[in-house]
Amino acid sequence: MKIAIGADHAGYQLKDSLKKLLDEMGVAYEDFGTSSGQSVDYPDFARAVAEAVAGSRFDRGILVCGTGIGMAIAANKVPGVRSAPIVDTDTARLSREHNDLNVLALGARVLPESRAREIVKTFLQTPFEGGRHAHRVGKIEGPTPQ
Ligand code: RB5
Repeated sequence: MKIAIGADHAGYQLKDSLKKLLDEMGVAYEDFGTSSGQSVDYPDFARAVAEAVAGSRFDRGILVCGTGIGMAIAANKVPGVRSAPIVDTDTARLSREHNDLNVLALGARVLPESRAREIVKTFLQTPFEGGRHAHRVGKIEGPTPQ
């Protein structure tokens, strides 16, 4: 599995911590920035990561901003991306099992680092259930042709 990871200025420190977690887990990644606390615009990083995942160059994405909300909103504008701001391991698991979430959005200002790490582990280790959920996820991209 290969991960595209990105953040804005509010999220770069948590991103750096999550990169260490990915190293510990032996998961490959590419860092799409940002790499300092200098103010940047989160949609730029959301788009870069979302397009990398939608284009199948990466299996999944992780985005970090202050709340996770702006990143998820922006990432979801890219067709094929399913992103949500996740705040606990239960919804992390369900977002994988039911929604096949492919871009995880995290809020560095609202999550303790330890919980963010647990969310990432759950996001990466939980498979999509498929079945009835595959049919529903398929409808997200548009109505089933008649
Ligand atoms: C930046 O101040 C903040 O607005 C951004 O990180 C994010 O929380 C937006 O959703």
